[in-house]
Amino acid sequence: MRRRLTASAAAAAAAAAALLLLLTATLFSISGGVDTLSPDRPLLDNGTAALVSAGETFQLGFFSPNGSTSRYIGIWYNRIPVQTVVWIANRRSPINSRSGNLSLTAAGELVLTDGSSGVLWTSGAPDAPLSNPVAQLLDDGNFAVREAGGGGSPDDFAWQSFDFPADTHIPGMIVGRRRLKNGTDLNINITASTSDSDPTPGRFVYGLDLRGDQQLFIWSEMQQYWRAGPWNGRWFSGVPEMVDTANGLLRFDVEPNQMTYLRSEQSSALLRFVMHSSGHLQLIVWLENRQSWNTIWYAPKDICDPLSSCGPNGYCRQIITPQCVCLQGFHPSNPRNWQLRDGTDGCLRTTPLDCRNGTDGFLTLRNTKLPDTSRSIVNASLTLDQCRASCLSNCDCTAYAALNISDSGSGCITWTTNLTDITVYQSAVGQELYVRLAAADLASEPSSDHRRRRNHFVVVIVVLSVVLIALLSCLAFCLWRRKKKRAADIVEETEERDLDLPLFDLGTIRNATCNFSLQNKLGEGGFGPVYRGTIGEGPEVAVKRLSKTSTQGLDEFKNEVTLIAKLQHRNLVRLLGCCVQEEERILVYEYMPNGSLDVFLFDEVKGTYLDWRTRYNIIVGIARGLLYLHHDSRFRIIHRDLKASNILLDKDMDPKISDFGMARIFGGDESEANTRRVVGTYGYMSPEYIMDGIFSMKSDVFSFGVLVLEIISGKKNRRVYHTLDQLNLLGHIWNTWREGNCLDFVDKSIGNSFPEAEVLRCIKIGLLCVQERAEDRPTMPSVLTMLGSTGDITLLPEPKQPGFFSTRVPLSQIYSSSSMSNQDISSSNKVTITNIEGR
Ligand SMILES: *[C@@H]1O[C@H](CO)[C@@H](O)[C@H](O)[C@H]1NC(C)=O
Ligand SMILES: *[C@@H]1O[C@H](CO)[C@@H](O)[C@H](O)[C@H]1NC(C)=O
Ligand SMILES: *[C@@H]1O[C@H](CO)[C@@H](O)[C@H](O)[C@H]1NC(C)=O
Repeated sequence: MRRRLTASAAAAAAAAAALLLLLTATLFSISGGVDTLSPDRPLLDNGTAALVSAGETFQLGFFSPNGSTSRYIGIWYNRIPVQTVVWIANRRSPINSRSGNLSLTAAGELVLTDGSSGVLWTSGAPDAPLSNPVAQLLDDGNFAVREAGGGGSPDDFAWQSFDFPADTHIPGMIVGRRRLKNGTDLNINITASTSDSDPTPGRFVYGLDLRGDQQLFIWSEMQQYWRAGPWNGRWFSGVPEMVDTANGLLRFDVEPNQMTYLRSEQSSALLRFVMHSSGHLQLIVWLENRQSWNTIWYAPKDICDPLSSCGPNGYCRQIITPQCVCLQGFHPSNPRNWQLRDGTDGCLRTTPLDCRNGTDGFLTLRNTKLPDTSRSIVNASLTLDQCRASCLSNCDCTAYAALNISDSGSGCITWTTNLTDITVYQSAVGQELYVRLAAADLASEPSSDHRRRRNHFVVVIVVLSVVLIALLSCLAFCLWRRKKKRAADIVEETEERDLDLPLFDLGTIRNATCNFSLQNKLGEGGFGPVYRGTIGEGPEVAVKRLSKTSTQGLDEFKNEVTLIAKLQHRNLVRLLGCCVQEEERILVYEYMPNGSLDVFLFDEVKGTYLDWRTRYNIIVGIARGLLYLHHDSRFRIIHRDLKASNILLDKDMDPKISDFGMARIFGGDESEANTRRVVGTYGYMSPEYIMDGIFSMKSDVFSFGVLVLEIISGKKNRRVYHTLDQLNLLGHIWNTWREGNCLDFVDKSIGNSFPEAEVLRCIKIGLLCVQERAEDRPTMPSVLTMLGSTGDITLLPEPKQPGFFSTRVPLSQIYSSSSMSNQDISSSNKVTITNIEGR
């Protein structure tokens, strides 16, 4: 009895529910399971209403981006748990209430209203009114307006969302230029959002530049920002790694004026390209087993990516330094800047081309990213040999290359301009570029034609050469050893003589600093006081006066002068001149109005000036400065005393590394050195340096890591050795990192709004840099690559335990275990202790 009653009650309830559903669906709006919108059925923002494509791959409806309450019409994947929006209709005009209404007019125009502010967004009236329009969400993620029962190709659509993409490029969507049925051309580009929570179009745009041999570009505020280069039949010339990454996942379909890509047949993975608000173009794939999105490729990311960093006729190398090299037959147009590793001026031709006499030849440059092709001339019907002939017959032609390399090369690209933005890859990827040179410039390297005509003499020559080379190497080795010894001495008389630095008169300096008055004193540096002053009408300067009592300071002074005079980088403090007169040793620097980083960092009140953006810029700036010292300057320089008080801040809070008093130059292939005099600052010194006196670029990387963690936490990492039972900063961060709550460590002065992913990335990089073993620590180029990457941080290596994580050895014991004599210990103690508290 009771059971029957329950059953009938349930049936009644179900019937009522079904009736209600039917009513809502027909009378008010769509409530799911439908893929079309028709004039009598608008889509209302009542929370659940959505269109679902026939294969249930995509859904269209109202949504709010993470961190925002504004409502937008969007398309997202239907079957995955993380709402991932691939298209947005009203990017510029959000709805600020839940009264959104997307309807289709009887003529076939999509109209979005919110009941109060009129029309917020519309697809535009069709060229000719449709008689029975529907708007359908297709299973490829396209939303199309067409005649009910009409065809399914883009030409049958009166309007389609694929023509107006947001920041996401999904398979099948065309980028480039599409001719519409009415004869007009539509440019289709992908535009990044302003931020993750604000879909308003932002700075970065990705699409095709159709000039010359069409190329894929990222633009930033209409300026070229990154060049993927032309399609060579297999990959975009500047992204050879894409062939591996995308292998089996997708294939490109590139045609005149447009390109698209499709999922490859073997793969069913969901994937998308996103033009991210950070300026990175990302390829993101859904990992079914992990139930998460994974960025498997992104650009720009490497040192050669900034456009034309090596100027006209120079090329960029990704790993080797110097990064910029002139093409054979060319020389730097500005040798001074070139030596200081600024390659943007490029290179000039050494011997003019000899067109009329017909003696010019071609240099084969292998594994290249082709130079900018926007002003190149394309002829698809020529063979490579015909291409060469056509280039030779044109006196303006500077280079040629195959248009399509997919089957042993066909088609022809010729350049008649300077060649810009070339990269030469270190591995056998990329394609061949043939650069036209005068015979005289070609002679220095055997041309490939000559190489084919080998004969027996080669064997004889090889044997002779081996003997000769062996002899020469012996000689070179002896010379090199002598030179190396001299390099270690740093200050050579000759170097002092050709110092390219203004010498100031002591009187001028006295005037500038009011005779070293107390009012002008900025602070006490490691080797003496620092004053603020003005020389003549000039800008303010900082004057560092070497204290007369310090005997050991003289070497450091000379060291600093010789070194700094030759270094120029925006993240290094600039030396303007010096003064060596009477007993005085004085250095004159540019003045940094914001003083040193420690003053801000370790002060609760001033710490609030450093928001996350500023801190991040400081981290990146220091990394760039250090990269320059380690790899990019004319010398290999180990700073040896990197710490917060040696980072100065200019008026824009951009960081500059200062105080090169302890820096050491490394010769040629020297990578580490041993010192008996350990100088530096506790808390920043690496284990191998303190314990064994070994310093290398990796000991600077350690100090950099400490700095990064200090910048994030706002806490000092000193007192390392006196913590017998409590952990130091590194130890604390390491523990919280392993427990997964290291964000607790973020300086409270930053406030609560910071990009967690970026902060976590920086903490991870910091931890990688302070790893106990020097060989585990990254080099500065990879630190910068990691800083610049926006992918999942799980892609970065996992840090191992930091140095000094569990040091419980008192100071005295550390020294007695090392090989230093007592005298060394006391002198190093003295130096270090003066530095311990910073300035
Ligand atoms: C939605 O908008 C259409 C056209 O603007 C209008 O005819 C319809 O009444 C609206 N529906 C609701 C429930 O507001
Ligand atoms: C969009 O694409 C066209 C050609 O496809 C290109 O010429 C244009 O510069 C691009 N627009 C922007 C804003 O970069
Ligand atoms: C062309 O050849 C002639 C004679 O061999 C020579 O004098 C002239 O300098 C050459 N021209 C160029 C531009 O090298």
